[in-house]
Amino acid sequence: MGKGEEEEEHQDIEDEDDTDDDDGDDEEEEEEKWRKHYSSRHRILLVGEGDFSFSLSLARRFGSARNMVATSLDTQEDIATKYSNGIKNVRELELRGCIVLFGVDAKQMSQHYFLSTQRFQRIVYNFPHVGFRYREGSYCQIQSNKRLVKSFLKNAKVLLRKEGGEIHISHKEGDPYNKWDLVKKAEKIGLVLHETVPFRMDDYPGYRNKRAQGSLSDAPFHLGVCSTYKFKLS
Ligand SMILES: C[S@@+](CC[C@H](N)C(=O)[O-])C[C@H]1O[C@@H](n2cnc3c(N)ncnc32)[C@H](O)[C@@H]1O
Repeated sequence: MGKGEEEEEHQDIEDEDDTDDDDGDDEEEEEEKWRKHYSSRHRILLVGEGDFSFSLSLARRFGSARNMVATSLDTQEDIATKYSNGIKNVRELELRGCIVLFGVDAKQMSQHYFLSTQRFQRIVYNFPHVGFRYREGSYCQIQSNKRLVKSFLKNAKVLLRKEGGEIHISHKEGDPYNKWDLVKKAEKIGLVLHETVPFRMDDYPGYRNKRAQGSLSDAPFHLGVCSTYKFKLS
């Protein structure tokens, strides 16, 4: 599959009635399906999920999610407590064949007992954030977030397929987010920016971005202008 085909050509085929109940027809099952940058033929690792609604948006489009591993730092109990739809989303993912893993730390995931045996074509972390330890624009908060992103990229690089692999980070634009130096961090560890494209929620029906922390865990955060940064091995 040629790169660059992803964004434009497959956008129009989105059908909001996308539960894709194509059961019983093997040929239909094997047909390649796209959700924005992601294909049913990619082996996809999702990292730092909130209520797993982003993973589920892909899974519903693909029909089968046997090509996906969806992970969260939270335990299953945390997911039940923090998100009104978390467990429901996890169960549907599992029914669709997705492997769902809890307690996966993006900073150490290359040593995870199962993930360390796998290689992925797409590794996706939407809106990485350590949680509010300090004020968002403060030096300490920015440093913590930078450390998270750097460790994630290092670990993702190990788990990435050499041929055609991409690591995607969706991230807010503007101050203080541009102080995280995503691209510089990536370059320092042997990755190169392939492209940056606008991130739009509408591209992922059903996706609900989550604060993921405190009493407002289940609430969305303001997205504003944001982008998906795509990195490749240099
Ligand atoms: C702003 S929330 C975004 C959640 C989700 N990706 C979304 O788009 O709604 C940041 C997420 O990063 C996760 N996170 C923070 N530190 C992490 C780590 N070391 N490993 C994996 N996930 C982490 C949090 O648990 C939280 O789910």
